Amino acid sequence: MSDARSVPDHLAALAESLRSASLRELFASDPQRAEWLSRKVQLGDSELLVDFSKQTLNRDVVDALVAEAETRGVRRLLADMIAGRAINSTENRAVTHMAMRASSEATAPIELQTTAADMIRHLDAVVAAVSKSITHVVNIGIGGSDLGPALLCDALGAMRPAAREVRFVSNIDPVDLDRALVGLTARHTIFIVCSKSFGTGETLANARRARAWLVAGGVTAVADHVIAVTAQPERIAATGLEVGHVLSMPDSVGGRYSVSSAVSVSVALAFGSGALREIRDGMRMMDEHFVTAPMHDNAPMLLGLIWWWNATVLGHPSVAVVPYSRVLGLLPGYLQQLIMESNGKSVDRSGSPVSTTSPVVWGSIGTNAQHAFFQLLHQGTHVVPVDFVSHSASLGSAEHDHDALVANMFAQAQALAFGVAQGEVGGEPSLRAHRATPGNRPSTTMLFSRLTPGAIGALVALYEHATFVQGAMWNVNSFDQWGVELGKSLAVQVLADMNGTPSASHDASTKRLLEQHRSWRNER
Ligand code: F6P
Repeated sequence: MSDARSVPDHLAALAESLRSASLRELFASDPQRAEWLSRKVQLGDSELLVDFSKQTLNRDVVDALVAEAETRGVRRLLADMIAGRAINSTENRAVTHMAMRASSEATAPIELQTTAADMIRHLDAVVAAVSKSITHVVNIGIGGSDLGPALLCDALGAMRPAAREVRFVSNIDPVDLDRALVGLTARHTIFIVCSKSFGTGETLANARRARAWLVAGGVTAVADHVIAVTAQPERIAATGLEVGHVLSMPDSVGGRYSVSSAVSVSVALAFGSGALREIRDGMRMMDEHFVTAPMHDNAPMLLGLIWWWNATVLGHPSVAVVPYSRVLGLLPGYLQQLIMESNGKSVDRSGSPVSTTSPVVWGSIGTNAQHAFFQLLHQGTHVVPVDFVSHSASLGSAEHDHDALVANMFAQAQALAFGVAQGEVGGEPSLRAHRATPGNRPSTTMLFSRLTPGAIGALVALYEHATFVQGAMWNVNSFDQWGVELGKSLAVQVLADMNGTPSASHDASTKRLLEQHRSWRNER
């Protein structure tokens, strides 16, 4: 097997051979390129076209990437994941997010399917039991207990009438909860305390404040206004929170992979259990495509391999994700956690150093992004691959303006790929160097026929699997997140010191900051 720390010679040679070939030349020399580098996935009420043709690659590269994936055991690891083996090796856990929506043994063993079906039955029963007098839902959670359901609810708001308004609170910044509660009345509000661990400081602090707000608002049966979602129900009692319903999730479902679990109960409370079912159906369709499609035809496999190729072989250290869809505005933030918390690692499964892993993921909505950071994408000194995402059918009221939105996306991908040379720009000669754009900037375009709840589910699953593929290529464990622990425990110590004398264990900079903060805080 290739050393995960180095780029195999044949891939480095392929990259070298492409350095002198522009995307213009690659398209000119291969009239079928757009055809053979596109993949379509049927998603029931929608269809997805993924166009990889503007990536820096050719047939040899695709063949070599697929072969490299075989060598590095991507499909073996996938089989282990599906079988429920403990591929999260540092925590000795299985990885069962696909099982959360599975209905076939192709994606999960029957006993895991049963667990998932029980979870959803319970969720539906809890949703049905929530009083009709509840008009507002406040989801308290952070990271995977926030980003996925927030993305889904924000998007579904443009597709379905909401029976209840949902708000999301994640930050320990008191302003977050303050703002979420504006205009709400306690007896019409239910809180979802969503925390896989039920030990996250931000979430528990906000939940305690929410409890106090309910009591101050005259609610006596506090538990009727609180649903907990957790993998650690036994921890609830110690928090002092009264909880009417507990929805459980398995330990083997990572927070950032948890959208198809009970973590998304807010979606069902706002848009109905049927909407959540549609999302899970879309995820399942993408799962089945991922596990059954041949490697060359497999959209998540190719997406993951191309991200790996760009980061590891071509050396592009970041990727921008730009949805041309107002309702997918939360997608970049969601993907930041999914991808970077999964693969932002420096050691492989055996603890040996890995020189390249996850690119930095960033982005925001088009066309807004065009008026913000696209200047750098077109002419900056960094080459930043872009993932574009949109849909042909408008979700708004003006079809013509939606066409303009999609046209902008196509135009940006075109400009990035093909650019305009100095000799082509015309006009004032002294400005030609400034106006030329180099082109050769890679992108992938994902176009849905319609953005439905199922299509969004499929999009999320597509990225989950692409993340899995990259992690397998680097041989990192994509399912732990030890890197976040040090900061969490230091925050506890720093907060304790904030109200006393800074302890000797803090560095000089932190001590100085603490002293300044205490002094300014005490002036208030
Ligand atoms: O600190 C990172 C993290 O553990 C994420 O992985 C997770 O999604 C988030 O915190 C919230 O954790 P929990 O759902 O346990 O509150």
